[in-house]
Amino acid sequence: MATSAAGRGRRSQEWFGASGRAGMLYRSWMRNQGFGPAVFDGRPVIGIATTWSELAPCNAHLHRVAEAVKRGVWQAGGFPLEFPVLATGETLLRPTAMFYRNLLAMEAEELMRGNPLDGVVLLSGCDKTTPGLLMAAASVDLPAIMVTGGPMLNGKFRGQDVGSGTHVWKFEAEVMAGRMTEAECLAAEGCMARSNGHCMTMGTASTMACMAEALGMQLPGSAAWPAVDARRYETAQEAGIRAVALVESDLRPSAIMTREAFENAIRANAAIGGSTNAIVHLMALAGRLGVPLALDDFDALARPVPTLVNLLPSGKYLMEDFCYAGGLPAVLAELASAHLLNESPVTVTGRSIGENVAGAECWNREVISSFDDPLQPAGSGTAILGGNLCPGGAVIKQSAASPELLVHRGRAVVFDTPEAYHAVADDPDLDVSADDILVIRGAGPRGYPGMPEVANVPLPARLLKSGVSDMVRICDGRMSGTGYGTVVLHVSPESAAGGPIGLVRTGDFITLDVPARTLTLEVADEELARRRASFVPPPRPKSGYAWLYTEHVLQAEEGADFDFLRGARGSDVPRDSH
Ligand code: FES
Repeated sequence: MATSAAGRGRRSQEWFGASGRAGMLYRSWMRNQGFGPAVFDGRPVIGIATTWSELAPCNAHLHRVAEAVKRGVWQAGGFPLEFPVLATGETLLRPTAMFYRNLLAMEAEELMRGNPLDGVVLLSGCDKTTPGLLMAAASVDLPAIMVTGGPMLNGKFRGQDVGSGTHVWKFEAEVMAGRMTEAECLAAEGCMARSNGHCMTMGTASTMACMAEALGMQLPGSAAWPAVDARRYETAQEAGIRAVALVESDLRPSAIMTREAFENAIRANAAIGGSTNAIVHLMALAGRLGVPLALDDFDALARPVPTLVNLLPSGKYLMEDFCYAGGLPAVLAELASAHLLNESPVTVTGRSIGENVAGAECWNREVISSFDDPLQPAGSGTAILGGNLCPGGAVIKQSAASPELLVHRGRAVVFDTPEAYHAVADDPDLDVSADDILVIRGAGPRGYPGMPEVANVPLPARLLKSGVSDMVRICDGRMSGTGYGTVVLHVSPESAAGGPIGLVRTGDFITLDVPARTLTLEVADEELARRRASFVPPPRPKSGYAWLYTEHVLQAEEGADFDFLRGARGSDVPRDSH
């Protein structure tokens, strides 16, 4: 088996280039798939980590995307090998897909390290699959490029655009308020998801696809091509070509995802009106890379950035419109023109992000506004709160909230779990008014477990029927990126970790002051100390993955990663018995 000069020293050659019995073992079994001996000549072996699954509908087309990637890898002289990793579909997995993000990251990391790969293409789509794969690639630090699967086409119902996720809540509220029949709702359901792809609102999947692009980990424009657009597949083929080039130039995730690149991603998230979940995922990713990043960075970096992108849930349009308007390159070009883009970070194109977006044009100012005439002014994006109710921080998406509730004092009405609230939410005698503040706890990383997207609980039925459309809600869990409302999220420490949110009692008063960035529980320290002394944490699982998860999951401000997975571990196999 002759190894080419270029291939000598390549990682995959430690397997396929070996002489004698060992090399024969590795090559022979691979040849049962019909690969000829030439593929072992030292060409870059490119793994294609796919989160394809029919149980993850947003990723159900990734096998076709993988075929396009393979074309590119072959075209560039590489050897593509597709392999499955955990598909964390948002809609079906219980208790919540977030419970499995770290498991996906752990599995993908080990498979990338344990196999004869020189580089990796990461195929993701649904919310957690993008951060999970990026976290894995960061910890292994093999040359890697991401290809997200793209959003669904715009939903259409009775001539109107319908956004996945966002309209589920809207329709539910309409039915509860008696303005829509069950039959109409059923018809609308079939009009929402009408093609392959992930949610086409600016929810978490679209946000994380944009984050991957802003970080420099996927090709310019990749985030927005609809899943069924031919150019999605053209881009995937190009990514295959680039994967080979990344191996040849030894350009690794650690060189791409620098602090400067994270600053770009955080500002881009503000400009697109992106999901609050990006905060948790970017914190976890930074933790893998050893990039210094604090929760307050999200506030400080985002404050000078206006919201430019007019997409649901904060705005009006959907990802298809965003794509045709110019996609993320047009947004990044706007940031660059305002000197709010670090232009030098290198990207998977081999060029800097500034070079990637130079000359990018916007074709529809209704969808992507200019810096001079933004959709919402600077400082109106996601805010980070502090105060005695959230010593570890909390998050609120101002653009999805009611402006008149951003400063609000109200009586706490407390529920120990989301289920406890849902059990009484329809009770016409529930003692709650529109000025009260709903406190939903037991939804943090450790407590639920898995930090589900439950914070934006529907309002009590009685209030909805009387025309109330929003009230302040406070929760140690997350909110779907497609959700909206005046909801304080990610309150940390969570109740299960002994945080002050676990000490609140119905009747206490809470003041939310978003301009001052504070969340204050108006209870004296001595009284809180008395309550803390009698606080009993909920029981923990005793075995299985749930035990591992609750023992090792970190709080929201550290990205809810596992403590033992933070940092990079490189691609060296700990021990090779052959
Ligand atoms: Fe998969 Fe929304 S459910 S992206």
